[in-house]
Amino acid sequence: MEKRDELYAGKAKSVYQTDDADLLVLAFRNDTSAFDGKKVEQLDNKGAVNNQFNAFIMGKLKEAGIPTHFEKLLSPTEALVKRLDMIPVECVVRNVAAGSLCRRLGVEEGIDLDPPTFEMFLKNDALGDPMINEYHVRSFGWATDAQIEQMKALTFRVNDVLKALFMAGNMLLVDYKLEFGVFHGEITLGDEFSPDGCRLWDRDTREKLDKDRFRQGLGSVVESYQEVGRRLGITFEY
Ligand code: TMP
Repeated sequence: MEKRDELYAGKAKSVYQTDDADLLVLAFRNDTSAFDGKKVEQLDNKGAVNNQFNAFIMGKLKEAGIPTHFEKLLSPTEALVKRLDMIPVECVVRNVAAGSLCRRLGVEEGIDLDPPTFEMFLKNDALGDPMINEYHVRSFGWATDAQIEQMKALTFRVNDVLKALFMAGNMLLVDYKLEFGVFHGEITLGDEFSPDGCRLWDRDTREKLDKDRFRQGLGSVVESYQEVGRRLGITFEY
């Protein structure tokens, strides 16, 4: 496999073409962004930690029968993935109230959500990732009814797998965001799963171990991601 030209640079990852039209290289950078790119900083080792964290999680999801784009790790900061036609919709499940849900509905952070909620957001930084519903997705042709149902079902299956995984490390999976695409006709999980795109709290102290540490200026951002990895048994290489 040969890495070729850069196809696209996102806020935290860059995407490269390869000599295989079906495969891309994802390079995880140290750039850390929040508030739709309004706050950006470089955090040492963040790219390596997220790349290896994501590889571990994608492996667990694959074992559970969830189709993902992940193929293999290439280096501490790079992974080989399938090339998906991305759907510009962010799927969010919440087990505990936090973040924009609290701001939007005026509810207290930390309330258990039983059953969990499912929300969709349009992936558009300029618009601040507005919340959308299934009708918008259908009317604008971002996905079909069947694809929406598959994304929702897969997002909830991910919840079952990961809630239990984090619970075993004494952590609460508060909420998370997934992005899907289509690979040869099949809805497939893309992007990444890392502490950049979810909320994780220590189960006993409710200490925040995710990107809220960066958003809220709490410090020890990468150290917290490493702690989450340690609790899951991940050994990071740099
Ligand atoms: P929110 O509370 O800001 O709506 O975010 C819910 C979860 O989804 C939280 O874990 C962060 C994640 N998320 C992202 O990582 N990127 C995004 O663009 C959005 C909208 C949410």
